Amino acid sequence: MEAIQHKGLPLKASCGGKGTCGDCVVLIKEGAYAKKSSAVLPDRLVNQGYALACQTLITDDLIVQLPQFEELLIKSVVRSEFVEKNKKDISGTYAHDPALKSIALNLPQPTLEDNYSDFKRVERQLVQHTGSKDFSLPYSVLKNLAHTVRQEQGQIHVTYFDDPSQASIVNITPASATERVFGLACDIGTTTVALYLVDMANGDIIETASSLNQQIKCGEDIISRINYSQKPGHLKELQDLIMITINRLIETVTQRAGTSSQDIYCASISGNTTMIHLLLTLEPNYIREEPYVPTFNRVPLLQAKDIGLRMNPEARIYCAPSVGSYVGGDITAGMLCTPMLKEADKTSLFIDAGTNGEIVAGNRDWLMTCACSAGPAFEGGGIRCGMPASSGAIEQISLSESGKLNYKVINGIKPKGLCGSGLVDLMAELFTHGNIDRHGKFNAPKTRDRIYHSQNGLAFLVEEAQNTFWGKDIVITEKDISNLILTKGAVFSACSLLLKSVGLDFHEIEALYIAGGFGRFLDVDNAIRIGLLPDLDRDKFHYVGNSSLAGAYLILRSEQNKSLTEEIAEKMTYIELNTEPRYMNEFTGSLFLPHTDMDLFPSVQKLFDSHTKESI
Ligand code: FES
Repeated sequence: MEAIQHKGLPLKASCGGKGTCGDCVVLIKEGAYAKKSSAVLPDRLVNQGYALACQTLITDDLIVQLPQFEELLIKSVVRSEFVEKNKKDISGTYAHDPALKSIALNLPQPTLEDNYSDFKRVERQLVQHTGSKDFSLPYSVLKNLAHTVRQEQGQIHVTYFDDPSQASIVNITPASATERVFGLACDIGTTTVALYLVDMANGDIIETASSLNQQIKCGEDIISRINYSQKPGHLKELQDLIMITINRLIETVTQRAGTSSQDIYCASISGNTTMIHLLLTLEPNYIREEPYVPTFNRVPLLQAKDIGLRMNPEARIYCAPSVGSYVGGDITAGMLCTPMLKEADKTSLFIDAGTNGEIVAGNRDWLMTCACSAGPAFEGGGIRCGMPASSGAIEQISLSESGKLNYKVINGIKPKGLCGSGLVDLMAELFTHGNIDRHGKFNAPKTRDRIYHSQNGLAFLVEEAQNTFWGKDIVITEKDISNLILTKGAVFSACSLLLKSVGLDFHEIEALYIAGGFGRFLDVDNAIRIGLLPDLDRDKFHYVGNSSLAGAYLILRSEQNKSLTEEIAEKMTYIELNTEPRYMNEFTGSLFLPHTDMDLFPSVQKLFDSHTKESI
């Protein structure tokens, strides 16, 4: 475990290396080692070469596969179907008009009469063909220019940013060097990092990849990462970890696309305020201390070489602007993906329920926003058998009247754990069938077949060890349920308070856009039953997908979207919940299933009334 952690690779270790949680299981492919026996790893897996990393002593060079790392490499990043289906209706434009452009030029040969410098001759042609007047040239291109322009008798290919004040050349190659020009859209989430490799000639998404943010070993949420960054050397370590994460994903997508990372000339990055501070090694401590001041809201344009991203060193990096300490570029970019800014007379609500819950209410004329500390529960963090929505996760689950559980696993393999949508389903089903009460406590007579005392307290058996991928029971404990209630309570009460602060209530909302953490399979009815989402007409709900990534992609496609994101950041009014006295009341009311005030959830009340009648 020490060797793996030293390399900066992610490894879950909830028992801290005591050999009791079984999180740190790895597959040893080759080499000699000594191990302590452990009750948590079944013999079947030990015989196949699996071992608990924390209980393994290295006695020789080893080749070790990290199954958790592999499982967390989410193979297919879900593209936002919502954006693709609603190209004309979203607030951002889907037009392809990036600042990055390429052009083929044929330079006349120099003569005694026309012996202007090589750069002047390139610039003269560029002015003629593009309409831009002035071009800058980086030293990295300048130093090879004499050779490049002569290699194919003046036939060249120029890549440049068409900025209004001065266009900037980023590369010049001989014409036959098939120059492909790529861009990168990247969402840096607290738990997951996802990116698209984009062909900048036409805006097509060529490849996608995603993985766990490797900073996770330093803390699962924003506050614990900020705390971690305060020890000497730790801020740099956090930056190194996010760089390793992104650079490895770049390697994955470029290899799959058969291209080089040097052909990537621009990146559009979105992330919450803390993630962008850590990416840029900026002191994040003042984000968490009253009066909650970030170092920046608007990051100046950077170059890949400034921060060490593996792409062309001259590549431009744009970070979507943030609004406040807890509402970041993930939200301003995400707003591009909804129709909220197109409509003046229709008020909508936008909820991005990742590790940090961020909420926006408003329309074309006004936008209010706030953030709550939702915690990583719906992304699998802090939940005994929780995991991200990747291969082996139970993503849908239902409970029949006879007590039989039916579930669907991502990729159809043996289940490894429960992801956010599976957890919402499970809680709703347990609650609806009376297996848990309104406080989230198990109802003993109802659950007696499946409940037992585990080392983590009372646990409800979802699937027994022999049918699971890891040969360990998949359970949900009372402590898990209590964490999930805290999370759903934080999100619901933040939405409620945000609306009250502008004198609205949920019924005045005409559309509700759900983004982020949950998989495609979040069941809205179940989310309402546990009190995560408000009890509104079901046709008002729209699932936007990873709007942060889709927004970063839209910014890459068009400069117009970049300007609109900045307008959005300026326009949003940020409410700081930490200093809002009414928030605690709202939150306390939300710590029941679905809520203390059942009038807010008429459809859930109706369901209970019908169940009661049936049982009479
Ligand atoms: S860290 Fe818990 S078993 Fe190894």
